[in-house]
Amino acid sequence: MKMVFLGPPGAGKGTLSDMASARLNLPHISTGDLFRAAVKHETELGKKVKDIIALGQLVPDDLTIALVRERLNHGDASKGWILDGFPRTTAQAEALQEVDPVDLVVDFEVQDSLILFRLTGRRLCPQCGKIYHLVTMPPAKEGLCDHCGGSLSSRPDDREEAIRVRLLAYREQTEPLIAWYGSRDLLVTIDGSGAPDLVYSRFESAVIRYRQDR
Ligand code: AP5
Ligand code: MG
Repeated sequence: MKMVFLGPPGAGKGTLSDMASARLNLPHISTGDLFRAAVKHETELGKKVKDIIALGQLVPDDLTIALVRERLNHGDASKGWILDGFPRTTAQAEALQEVDPVDLVVDFEVQDSLILFRLTGRRLCPQCGKIYHLVTMPPAKEGLCDHCGGSLSSRPDDREEAIRVRLLAYREQTEPLIAWYGSRDLLVTIDGSGAPDLVYSRFESAVIRYRQDR
């Protein structure tokens, strides 16, 4: 199954993608994670996108589409995937339909107040990518990743100023995709509030309904 996880910053796309990827045995492809890895390893792409990401702006479509096109060519993506954070513009959605059409788009809805709470409390393991929250999903040992022992840190774009820019980019460039996919009968909307297991059960029900309908 080929799925896109859509939603504003902090909606829980990464958290739910990790759960769905493990349970459904599908690769979790996050463009944000791919860009952050490129920045960390100081590749040519990383140098181009470092400041754009830290400011909270969108990376240009040509770079993003080329990145996803290349990633979807890997063997693990032949039977399905979960795309997290892509597409984010109509041009990206059109490109995806040409390269490898999506089966289902899951839109996670959350209120702005919850977004701010989630992003300002988020901590990330830069070594293995595991996502934590200081209140809702704290690590067992403060500041250390349960999975690999790495030192947890905040994302540079989780500063308040960058969050504002990201939310604006979402409203102006990404939110129109809800109607775009809706008109193609590919969209399900899910309430993204509540504990991860509750959100996951809503997601699971939506997938079951989708399979029954086709
Ligand atoms: P990206 O990494 O995709 O960031 P984003 O879309 O802003 O989304 P986030 O990763 O911030 O949130 P999320 O929905 O994954 O939430 P999470 O699960 O972490 O993109 C970063 C940047 O890269 C962009 O700004 C842009 O510059 C560039 N980029 C990426 N893709 C691009 C594209 N296609 N085109 C152009 N540019 C692109 O959860 C957030 C927090 O909440 C965590 O602390 C988590 O523990 C907690 N949490 C999550 N769910 C729950 C829950 N159910 N209950 C309690 N706590 C929860
Ligand atoms: Mg994410």
